[in-house]
Amino acid sequence: MGSIPTQWITPLLLWGLFRAVSGSSVEQKIYVNLNDTAPCVRLLNGTHQIGCQSSLAGDVGVIHFLESEEDLPWVLTSGPSPPYMVVLEAPLFTRSVMMKLNNGSSRIAGVAVVIPSSSPAQGFSPHTTCPNENTGLYSESYDPSMAHCNTTVWNPLGNGLSYEQFNFPMFSLKDDNGTEVIRQCYLEHNRVVNGSAPGYPLCAMQLSSHMHAVTDTVTCMRRSEGSAFSLSQDKVCDALSNYNVWSSTKSLNNTAKGHKDNETIVIAAARLDSRAFFHGVSLGAEGSASGFITLLAAAAALANITRENPPPRTETFDYIGSSRMVYDMETDNFAIDLDNVHSLVEIGQVGLHNVSGLWLHSDPVSRRNDAVDKEVKSLMDTFQSVATNLNLSLGLPDVSQPLPPASFQRFLRAQPIPGLVLTDHRSHFTNRFFESMYDNAEYLNLTYPADLSPEERFTHVTDTARGLTEVATLVARALYKQAGGAEEWLASIQADSQTVAQLLYGFLVQTRNPWFEAIIPPEDQYLLMPSPPEYYVGVHGSTNNTASSLVYYVLANLTGTALNISRDNCTKREFTDDTESTHMNSYMWVQGVTPPNATEPVSYCVRSTARISRAESPAFLLKDYRSSNFSTWTESRWIRIGARIFLVAGPDLEMLTLGVGVAVLLASLLLTYVINSKADFLFSSGREPANATY
Ligand SMILES: *[C@@H]1O[C@H](CO)[C@@H](O)[C@H](O)[C@H]1NC(C)=O
Ligand SMILES: *[C@@H]1O[C@H](CO)[C@@H](O)[C@H](O)[C@H]1NC(C)=O
Ligand SMILES: *[C@@H]1O[C@H](CO)[C@@H](O)[C@H](O)[C@H]1NC(C)=O
Ligand SMILES: *[C@@H]1O[C@H](CO)[C@@H](O)[C@H](O)[C@H]1NC(C)=O
Ligand SMILES: *[C@@H]1O[C@H](CO)[C@@H](O)[C@H](O)[C@H]1NC(C)=O
Ligand SMILES: *[C@@H]1O[C@H](CO)[C@@H](O)[C@H](O)[C@H]1NC(C)=O
Ligand SMILES: *[C@@H]1O[C@H](CO)[C@@H](O)[C@H](O)[C@H]1NC(C)=O
Ligand SMILES: *[C@@H]1O[C@H](CO)[C@@H](O)[C@H](O)[C@H]1NC(C)=O
Ligand SMILES: *[C@@H]1O[C@H](CO)[C@@H](O)[C@H](O)[C@H]1NC(C)=O
Ligand SMILES: *[C@@H]1O[C@H](CO)[C@@H](O)[C@H](O)[C@H]1NC(C)=O
Ligand SMILES: *[C@@H]1O[C@H](CO)[C@@H](O)[C@H](O)[C@H]1NC(C)=O
Ligand SMILES: *[C@@H]1O[C@H](CO)[C@@H](O)[C@H](O)[C@H]1NC(C)=O
Repeated sequence: MGSIPTQWITPLLLWGLFRAVSGSSVEQKIYVNLNDTAPCVRLLNGTHQIGCQSSLAGDVGVIHFLESEEDLPWVLTSGPSPPYMVVLEAPLFTRSVMMKLNNGSSRIAGVAVVIPSSSPAQGFSPHTTCPNENTGLYSESYDPSMAHCNTTVWNPLGNGLSYEQFNFPMFSLKDDNGTEVIRQCYLEHNRVVNGSAPGYPLCAMQLSSHMHAVTDTVTCMRRSEGSAFSLSQDKVCDALSNYNVWSSTKSLNNTAKGHKDNETIVIAAARLDSRAFFHGVSLGAEGSASGFITLLAAAAALANITRENPPPRTETFDYIGSSRMVYDMETDNFAIDLDNVHSLVEIGQVGLHNVSGLWLHSDPVSRRNDAVDKEVKSLMDTFQSVATNLNLSLGLPDVSQPLPPASFQRFLRAQPIPGLVLTDHRSHFTNRFFESMYDNAEYLNLTYPADLSPEERFTHVTDTARGLTEVATLVARALYKQAGGAEEWLASIQADSQTVAQLLYGFLVQTRNPWFEAIIPPEDQYLLMPSPPEYYVGVHGSTNNTASSLVYYVLANLTGTALNISRDNCTKREFTDDTESTHMNSYMWVQGVTPPNATEPVSYCVRSTARISRAESPAFLLKDYRSSNFSTWTESRWIRIGARIFLVAGPDLEMLTLGVGVAVLLASLLLTYVINSKADFLFSSGREPANATY
């Protein structure tokens, strides 16, 4: 036969294309997008990258449900249709399994972890065994014998997965109907029967979570800064940052920074953020919320008494990104400096105190100084005498034991300040789910009788709320005494269990509730959801961090005063009376409640000493992206996160469909890039090291 004229080839090819495309659009009907998924994303520090990512178009693999560790050779070596998309139940989400999959990653397209609705009894923590090992106090220069958790391994259950770099995308799936769809598809098409491989069509999954940043923070910041004058979407990573929230029992002039001559201040602090392996599912109920809720309740209990009978020392309540706050205090960028700090009390994890009691931790190294030791001992005595009256068990760990991971360590790195950390563990954490998705409301027994309406749940005082109220009373009384307050008022300081119950509900069950609606500004109502907020520290971007904004508004409500002034006078903050000056207080116009017969809420102005300050690591201020002193963590940017399942008809059609899909996607992406980016940004990628993945 003669050769086919070339002009015929084009239609032939087009026909092929048409087939493939129309084939996949018929299959569109059986593409099932998976809901309720959470991806593992990429983070970078000065030297490493951790987390997960997919290729630009998303990674596709044949689904294999891993039933046990013995099942691994099928996906790693013997299975006939790699790459595999491994779906595993939470009990198999272990370091041993994950590392084997990561090492065999040429045959692994990705991993989906099915998260059960109840937590594993044996515990689970993807954090390291020694949290903050390199950014805390104990180091080769402070006390080498305590460095690297030599004395106490704080988080023995930690498997370190959150700090590993994976070569494939990973998603979590809720164990619900969506997962049932995958299971059905797998059972019908992919199941290995008597060791023989199933034939096509096979059920496949696609995970898309392409990350723009690679290598380390130094690389991604250089690339982002190289494009500083072009569109902001050229940035490939953002510094992890958040807001510190603080207030004081006495107004401090926040405009005048640095040392305040006549002030000595007792700081009470708690941590605000938490993280989990998968993005967007970190609640940190015990890990951080138990501490900051206790502190909020203590601040509320003190607000009344300090107005009437102010102690000589001022107390400030902080929810801190500690390294930045200490740095600001050292560089005269904060309302007080470190020399104003008399002592510090940090509320750590306290939600499980009924299981293991309360413990007061101190730093053995700074206590070698007699003056510091004396003050620490007196603070301990104060706490213990108050606890005795409250019937709380409060113990002291061995004197030689270092501090657990805490923000206080950052203060001690700068100056030997007397202080204590209150927790519910004597040595290693009582928390069996540190920095994991299981550290949730259920772990703190926040369960409500089924017959209660949402309104009733909101005000229902659980045993957990009662317990934390006692702890908050302990903290409030001890702080009042530590600030020099008179003994006679101590007994009248009492945290309110109703307030604690509402805080627990608002911060761990759902933020959309009548109280939060009333105390935040009308324009911020969008922050409220029928779910708890996300406590992951997040990046500095166009949106405010919900968790710290809410803590700020709650703190203002609990410690502030409602004023009868107009909206203009509130937001303009122009007051003739100097004591009303905005230097000393902050003002917010909040929504208020709707009276029974009205349609509009009655908004009002709240004056308080609550303030918000940036908590971005000083490393980014100093542009020291390799800093060993400050955190250099950044989060990669991404465009698309998604997970779906579908049937693949056979390896060839699959390749064709995929090839066409990838080609079309690449072409359109390239076009988008060319149109959107400045040419210099495009070509600057030539400077990237060879291991850059795009
Ligand atoms: C970056 O993170 C990796 C993995 O956790 C760690 O080994 C390394 O020490 C960190 N580097 C810096 C500069 O913090
Ligand atoms: C750990 O502590 C022990 C006893 O204090 C000491 O002998 C040992 O050298 C320490 N190890 C490290 C790595 O510092
Ligand atoms: C899940 O499936 C069950 C039974 O098929 C059904 O009763 C239930 O409503 C479904 N749940 C959701 C959230 O779709
Ligand atoms: C995801 O949600 C969409 C819209 O609510 C629904 O049509 C679809 O069936 C859901 N997917 C799964 C796997 O449940
Ligand atoms: C607060 O400090 C600023 C700047 O030093 C000063 O101008 C202002 O008068 C002070 N306000 C009060 C009420 O002390
Ligand atoms: C500090 O206190 C002294 C005496 O109590 C007083 O004279 C002085 O004005 C105070 N200084 C400030 C800045 O308040
Ligand atoms: C505030 O304290 C006064 C007495 O000092 C007391 O009568 C009042 O009930 C307290 N208010 C609250 C809300 O605790
Ligand atoms: C939760 O309830 C269980 C069973 O009643 C109990 O053992 C556990 O101590 C409780 N935990 C908390 C934090 O109250
Ligand atoms: C929200 O962000 C704006 C700037 O975008 C800032 O002025 C404001 O203080 C932030 N509010 C809170 C509560 O974080
Ligand atoms: C705090 O919120 C409660 C409930 O909405 C309200 O009754 C109270 O007046 C508020 N306090 C302040 C200072 O805004
Ligand atoms: C607002 O402030 C101005 C100037 O201080 C004052 O004259 C006016 O009465 C204030 N209005 C209200 C409603 O407080
Ligand atoms: C609501 O309005 C009705 C009729 O105007 C009146 O009888 C009733 O007392 C009002 N209720 C309240 C709580 O103001």
